[in-house]
Amino acid sequence: MRIQRHCHSEDETIALAARLGSRLCGGDLVCLDGPLGCGKTRFVQGLAAGLGLDPSAVCSPSFIICREYHNQTPLTLTHVDAFRLTGAQDLPAIGWDELLCSTDTVIAVEWSGRIRSALPQNRIDVQMEHTSATSRMITLAAPDNLSSRFDRLVD
Ligand SMILES: Nc1ncnc2c1ncn2[C@@H]1O[C@H](COP(=O)(O)OP(=O)(O)O)[C@@H](O)[C@H]1O
Ligand SMILES: [Mg+2]
Repeated sequence: MRIQRHCHSEDETIALAARLGSRLCGGDLVCLDGPLGCGKTRFVQGLAAGLGLDPSAVCSPSFIICREYHNQTPLTLTHVDAFRLTGAQDLPAIGWDELLCSTDTVIAVEWSGRIRSALPQNRIDVQMEHTSATSRMITLAAPDNLSSRFDRLVD
């Protein structure tokens, strides 16, 4: 799957992410990359909404690396920010391998490029770029074995 969408407002970005979030399953890994302020945390707020969680609870985990959100929903959202990690060697400290094995958790990683060597092939990549102050080009990519779940994600 490779889907490209130009989102002309923060709300459009959140709505796209919520549609993706509503199709996620336990064990899914969403990897977000793009420069500071491109909307990675906004996108994770949309994922939370799509998972039935409170999007306003989602904030940047930068200073604590990792946050978990759950609220009597079937799936927990674990939100990781790799910005302050030195690299993949820091991942054992947040229980990365256990996280990847968890079948009731969706993982969203901001700045995933910083831990590229630790990322499995089975993942959903979200690349975000500024196109103006209020617009972002968002590219979603996933391997073929995951793609059927994302049919008609965008019109
Ligand atoms: N189309 C858009 N999509 C996402 N965010 C947008 C958009 N237009 C403007 N913004 C703004 O860009 C900022 C994105 O912040 P944030 O999600 O924290 O970025 P990042 O996590 O990538 O550093 C927010 O202030 C948001 O209001
Ligand atoms: Mg962020």
